[in-house]
Amino acid sequence: MNIFEAIRDDHDTQRDLLGKLVKTSGDTKNRDEIFKAVKNQLQVHADAEERYFYKPLISNDMMQEHARHGIAEHHEIDELIEQLENTDYDSSAWLKIAKDLKHKVEHHLEEEEHTFFQLAGKVFSQTQKTDLAKSYKKHMTSNL
Ligand SMILES: [Fe+2]
Ligand SMILES: [Fe+2]
Repeated sequence: MNIFEAIRDDHDTQRDLLGKLVKTSGDTKNRDEIFKAVKNQLQVHADAEERYFYKPLISNDMMQEHARHGIAEHHEIDELIEQLENTDYDSSAWLKIAKDLKHKVEHHLEEEEHTFFQLAGKVFSQTQKTDLAKSYKKHMTSNL
């Protein structure tokens, strides 16, 4: 498995969880559980991805701007998670923010998979691609 496949698997998990999140309603156990799972997935993934995808790219001239952009989006995603945490589950604003989060994350994953992966594919060596996948997955499993 290479770093792109490893990340893509977790992106699929995120898409699945976000789809479930926007189908929840009110102050329910279901909303609480799915939100906590989304939050955990997104935060652990962003951390692992910054260490084992963006960081090794940032020194490359062709990738520096993209890496910065990707990391900036992680912060925007974090802010939406924080907004959700500060909003009551039974408030009508909650679902609106959850939909904004879904939209923002989907855009971000799309950009990573379609733009950044293609470019990074030319930057990393084969060994690097598999070594990064191992480190990425190890970080994910020990932090989730
Ligand atoms: Fe990301
Ligand atoms: Fe990602």
